[in-house]
Amino acid sequence: MSLQNDISLDARKILLINDKGNYTIPTNGLYPFQWNWDSAFAAYGFAQFDIPRAWKELETLFSAQWINGMVPHIIYHQVDDSYFPGPNIWKGIGPIPSSGITQPPVVASLMKKIWELDTDYGNDQIRLLFPKVLKWHRWFMQWRFQEGLVFINHPWEAGRDNAPDWDSALAAINPTGVAPYKRRDTEHVNPVMRPTKSDYDRYIWLVQQGRECKWNADWLRKNSSFKVADPAMHFILLRANRDLRLIGINLEEDISEIDSWIASLEKGASKLWNTSISSYDSFDLLNFNFAGSISSASFMCWYAGLYDKRMLTHYDRIMKKVKYGMPSYDPESKRFDRKRYWRGPSWAIMNMLIGFGLEEVGELKRASLLKAQTNRAISENGFAEYFDPIDGSPAGGNTFTWTAAVWLGWAKTMGGANGFN
Ligand code: DGY
Repeated sequence: MSLQNDISLDARKILLINDKGNYTIPTNGLYPFQWNWDSAFAAYGFAQFDIPRAWKELETLFSAQWINGMVPHIIYHQVDDSYFPGPNIWKGIGPIPSSGITQPPVVASLMKKIWELDTDYGNDQIRLLFPKVLKWHRWFMQWRFQEGLVFINHPWEAGRDNAPDWDSALAAINPTGVAPYKRRDTEHVNPVMRPTKSDYDRYIWLVQQGRECKWNADWLRKNSSFKVADPAMHFILLRANRDLRLIGINLEEDISEIDSWIASLEKGASKLWNTSISSYDSFDLLNFNFAGSISSASFMCWYAGLYDKRMLTHYDRIMKKVKYGMPSYDPESKRFDRKRYWRGPSWAIMNMLIGFGLEEVGELKRASLLKAQTNRAISENGFAEYFDPIDGSPAGGNTFTWTAAVWLGWAKTMGGANGFN
């Protein structure tokens, strides 16, 4: 048996170890509950060898959907004190104890891929999930969309918790009044790989703000102290709507509402273009400034179906600087930090989405280079949460569900070109 086959068996084992029956945790200790986008990737991983289990994952995720359509970013199916903040800090208002914010809506796109693997089995499941996903997307367009841009109300909502994209927006927040708290993440992972205390104070302060208004979406849309348009969120939602539209056509549903969202998101995407750095960038809707960030989010344009060749120049420049791309942040920036979470490390999930995009627009050489580098990071260093882009060393949590899922669903097959540089 080849080494690559052994790794695939290990990847399956990781999914099974993190499987709690109806949902999957990202990794034991550091993240002991169900996380929204982690779960969608887990479903995609399971679909490579157990289709019914894949659908079960998505079904469980949507069992936590709020009446207003939001699907929370953490769902606390059980009690576990190894994580902070728990359900009593959030006081989510859904049917199951949860956080009060969402996460990037990768579900529709991954659900479509799962369905395509076995349309016979998936037909009933997708019919059941379609209206729920539609309702979630509608929630985004109603409560997280302004001036053509999809925005986040909390850095955790982007999933890219401590990206430099949020630095100046967070600096504008004075976290006075944040209740005393004890972090648990730094008990599981080296603090140099995690967000700083200053970031955390503001994360918790923003949770308190949401809790105090009882997660009133209308109030938060108008009054949240943090409103930043995020290219990853924007591009992922645009792509998700394109996929949901195709699913809708297949199910003979009315797709006119989805069509109007696609048009609005396509139009809005051009506003994310920061001419001063020639890149898609995050934009602070409260302080009216760009973050000045070239990040892995900037390269999600192709995944969104926008074949913007302008981003290829940055892409090639950055990939030449590292051996294990795509770094989450521009390595030539002063803010780049190769170990610290979303400030430099490479993430397999982002690579897969960027890789899908590159492949679809016909940039096959670039797509296979990215896949090969992801394959090598995992082959050499295991299923880490993220990787140092310079030397590939593992960082963050280990035995990580989404890294295993990306291996099974994408990185294990290297395709034709051997892209190692
Ligand atoms: C964490 O606790 O670090 C998570 O990313 C929040 O979702």
